[in-house]
Amino acid sequence: MVINTAAYVRVDDAEVEAEKAFQVNAIGALNVAKVCNELDVLNVYISTDYVFDGIRGAPYEEEDVPNPVNVYGLSKYAGEIFTRNYSEKYYVIRVASLYGKVGASGKGGNFVEFMIQKARNGGEIKVVDDVFMSPTCTKDVSRMLKRFIEIKPEFGIYHIVNEGYCNWYDFTREIFYILGWDVEVKLIKSSELERLARRPVFSALKNKKLEDIGLRMRDWKEALKDYLMEEKRGR
Ligand SMILES: NC(=O)c1ccc[n+]([C@@H]2O[C@H](COP(=O)([O-])OP(=O)(O)OC[C@H]3O[C@@H](n4cnc5c(N)ncnc54)[C@H](OP(=O)(O)O)[C@@H]3O)[C@@H](O)[C@H]2O)c1
Repeated sequence: MVINTAAYVRVDDAEVEAEKAFQVNAIGALNVAKVCNELDVLNVYISTDYVFDGIRGAPYEEEDVPNPVNVYGLSKYAGEIFTRNYSEKYYVIRVASLYGKVGASGKGGNFVEFMIQKARNGGEIKVVDDVFMSPTCTKDVSRMLKRFIEIKPEFGIYHIVNEGYCNWYDFTREIFYILGWDVEVKLIKSSELERLARRPVFSALKNKKLEDIGLRMRDWKEALKDYLMEEKRGR
C-alpha cells in the first residue's frame, strides 16, 4: 500500500504559492492514485480538517460537505477528490492539529513544543480562544491507522482524531497544567493575528465512521498527557 503523507503544509505561504500547493497536494495525489491503480495497491491519502469552512460550529462528520476557506484546504480537497475518483482502492483519512515526536518538517516542529520552548525562553505567550479544533497526537493516529487497515473497512473517507475538542488557548493551558508549570498564557482573538490565510473557526472532527466499525480514539487530554510524560521535561 501507499500511505501518502506528502504535502505542501504551510497554510499562509500557500496563499501566495497556490500553484505549488496544488502541484503537491492535488496533482501529487493524482499521480499517486494512478500509480496505485497500475500496481493494484491500496492508496491512503492523509487529509485535513481544513477542507471545512468551520461555520457550523459543531464537529464535522465524514459525509459533511467540504467548503475550504483557504488555498491549502482547497488543494487538499482537490487531492481528496483525485484520490477518490482515480483510485480503485483508497482511504481518505482526515486528521487535524497534529503534534508528535518528530514534528512537521514543513512547519519546523509542532505547536506543543513551540509553547514549551517559549515558556523556557520566558517569552510572552499569546494564544487565540476563538478557534476550535481537535488536537491530535500522531502516535494515536499511527496506531489507529494500523488497526484500521488490518480490519480493511469499506473504502471511503474517515476521520481519525483524538476525541473531544477545544480552542487553542485551552489547549495551551492544558499543556502547562499537565507539566505543572506556572506559565501565564494571554488570551487573544484571531482578528489580532496578521495572517495571510483565513482559518476555519471551528474545524473539530467527529470520528463517526470509525465508531460505526467499533473503533474509538482516546480523549485529547489523555493523549496529550501521555505525550508530555513520555520524556522528562525540566524547565
Ligand atoms: N500538521 C497538522 O496539524 C496537520 C493537520 C491536518 C492534516 N495534516 C496532513 O498531514 C500530512 C503530514 O503533514 P505534516 O504536518 O506532518 O507536515 P510535514 O512533516 O511537513 O510532512 C509533509 C511531508 O511532505 C513532503 N513533501 C513536501 N513536498 C513534497 C514533494 N514535492 N514531493 C515529495 N514529498 C514532499 C515533505 O518532505 P520533506 O520533509 O523532505 O520536505 C514532508 O515530509 C499532510 O498530508 C498534511 O496535509 C497535517
